[in-house]
Amino acid sequence: MIVLKTKEEIEMMREAGRLLSDCHRAIRNLIKPGITTIEIDDFVEQYLRKHGGTPEQIGYQGYQHAICASVNDVVCHGIPSPEKLKEGDIVTIDFVVNLEGWLADSAWSYPVGKIDKKAMDLLKTTEEALYKGIEQAKVGNRIGHIANAIETYAEEKGYSIVRDFIGHGIGRQMHEPPMVPHYGPIEQGPELKEGMVFTIEPMLNCGSHFVYVEKDGWTARTVDEELSAQYEHTIAITKKGPIILTNQYR
Ligand code: MF3
Ligand code: CO
Repeated sequence: MIVLKTKEEIEMMREAGRLLSDCHRAIRNLIKPGITTIEIDDFVEQYLRKHGGTPEQIGYQGYQHAICASVNDVVCHGIPSPEKLKEGDIVTIDFVVNLEGWLADSAWSYPVGKIDKKAMDLLKTTEEALYKGIEQAKVGNRIGHIANAIETYAEEKGYSIVRDFIGHGIGRQMHEPPMVPHYGPIEQGPELKEGMVFTIEPMLNCGSHFVYVEKDGWTARTVDEELSAQYEHTIAITKKGPIILTNQYR
């Protein structure tokens, strides 16, 4: 069952989203060649606690970190590591904030120093694909309108869409119905109703859409070792259109 949120509940989720978004802004300035993803993880945990929030991913199904940090061909769920980021890498930082029991979830891919055109184009298109999906998040449309808009845009630009990981409803739980795939037909999934809150989080690959999960049980990589990027927002459906609860850069 999809739990619809009241206006007041959406406002509380917006506060969680604002904290998450402010933290993402702070991260952007930290990400430089030489920093490690463990250091970014520490920073995020401290930032959230200092501002009255908690990192919801710690303890989730045994996961031990505030963030997922996915470098280059890691698609998602990369575990923070003591390895230094290098000039030319791309890294996706994904985390969930809990503020007074309400959650928000957002991922952003960042360049490390100067990156080449191939990586830059991937980042730009992936971010744009997220916003193509958000545009379709209106009352009366289906989840399929979002999925199809994202897939169509990504494929037009020559990228593939990851199928094994999808967006999800969110509220007091990290993962609630509905499921939000980023590919497939317009007719799929439930009709969008005022009060639905869910994530849209497309992962685009330069190569094929195939991914595998490493022996650590988390790290998902592209099978062909090609680059992958991801952008994710938590959005609320209202009669006036979608509200991006984790808005930071637009
Ligand atoms: N933030 C992720 C999502 O988009 C969840 C990460 S899994 C975790 O759904 F174990 F790291 F929390
Ligand atoms: Co996320």
